[in-house]
Amino acid sequence: MAATESGKPTESDLTRWDRDHAWHPFSQMQEYLQFPPLHIASGEGCWLTDTRGRRYLDATASIWTNTHGHNDPDLNAAITEQLGKVAHSTLLGLSHPVGAELAHKLADITPGDLTRTFFSDTGANAVEIALKLSLQYWQLKGAPEKNRVIGLRDAYHGDTVAAMAVGDSRTFHRRFRPWFFPTIKSPRPECEEWAGTVHHADDRWALHILRKLLEKQADKVAAFILEPSVMGAAGMRLQPPGFLARAAALCREHDVHLILDEVFTGFGRTGPMLVCGEEGVTPDFLCLAKGLSGGYLPLAATLVREPIYEAFLGPFESFRAFFHGHTFTGNPLGAAVSLANIRKLEPMIASGALSAKGEYFGRRIADRFQDHPQVASIRQRGLCAAIDLVEDNRTGTSFPVPERFGLRVARQARDHGLLLRPIHDTLLLVPPLSISGEEIDLLTERTLEALNQTLAARHAPV
Ligand SMILES: Cc1ncc(COP(=O)(O)O)c(C=O)c1O
Repeated sequence: MAATESGKPTESDLTRWDRDHAWHPFSQMQEYLQFPPLHIASGEGCWLTDTRGRRYLDATASIWTNTHGHNDPDLNAAITEQLGKVAHSTLLGLSHPVGAELAHKLADITPGDLTRTFFSDTGANAVEIALKLSLQYWQLKGAPEKNRVIGLRDAYHGDTVAAMAVGDSRTFHRRFRPWFFPTIKSPRPECEEWAGTVHHADDRWALHILRKLLEKQADKVAAFILEPSVMGAAGMRLQPPGFLARAAALCREHDVHLILDEVFTGFGRTGPMLVCGEEGVTPDFLCLAKGLSGGYLPLAATLVREPIYEAFLGPFESFRAFFHGHTFTGNPLGAAVSLANIRKLEPMIASGALSAKGEYFGRRIADRFQDHPQVASIRQRGLCAAIDLVEDNRTGTSFPVPERFGLRVARQARDHGLLLRPIHDTLLLVPPLSISGEEIDLLTERTLEALNQTLAARHAPV
């Protein structure tokens, strides 16, 4: 029961309910429960406010989704307008205007003959759909033996079973490995880049192995799946410019589908609207989510090349149809906000404003962190960056795992009004694309302060 007369829950109600009934994603709950919970009540621009009125700069863009900030008037208006019409109507056997308009818009902003959109609701589902479409396509073409998938080492494509199988996130997914379908892992390329300078890049080994795998097994391989440019969950692992085009050429040469997972990189995160468009590569399947709806609502899309779509056509009794769908596939509120998001992004990208902001972000990170004794390496492209922390960067000694150093820095950052979500001891900085120059300064300063205070507390006498 709510404790106040107004019927509104109090702070302690919320804390108790969260503690007693919630189970948070990607969280060791025993660890989570050691700290007072933070209940986010509202947002404005790049800032989130908790139920006690404390403001935090959202340096994770609410898990890499937010483009134009929270509570954006244009995106809000798109949802409100659609809400006044209909909140949800299915795409199973029906259409709706915003769904058709968004599918048309996506065909417009994507390269080549990526003309068909299959909607869903999460990045993992967008990937599952691409995989199933690829497998079914080869069956329909009389080549059912083409049923293996090549993925990159350290890749992350989501947490559903097929998405886990084609990924390589050992900490997150190893317990489920016995249920994965057979996949092949190929090494990822190397690239250290920040503030617009490539410090080290090498994709020769990655391309050599991919070529060898394709030469030997292409007749058994349905698809190669790749997060182009930046592998976010691997800790912002970058790929050298041109790697995507070289890998795409190998896939084409060996008649293997290319599935691009731009769930993270899409919609301006690295500067351009889409990496594939920027690099002039038309994949067979393109997976989109996160920034598609500006970080507002769960909407995802799998774009498919027209000849692949055509292979599924036939009389009903041929059973060539793609029997797949989710209840909220292509939800109209999500479609409406996605359209508004893309329209608002287009001039930011065309004017060069977004890439200039990414360059400034890179310079500020370099200024603050590149000479820090606990920083082993930095990777940055556009508005995403990773800072690897170590106990001593001369020896490369890591912090002891139980110390949870990265998490401690993030907890310290909260006291500085900053929300971070590191992966192990790698700090990830992924702000909303609407972040201002002053907010970038604040973000980098506060991160540095949190790091230094965490180090000082570590060395303080007990
Ligand atoms: C590249 C990539 N693909 C897929 C996913 C999964 O997306 P979702 O969490 O919406 O299922 C993520 C999530 O971080 C991702 O970064």
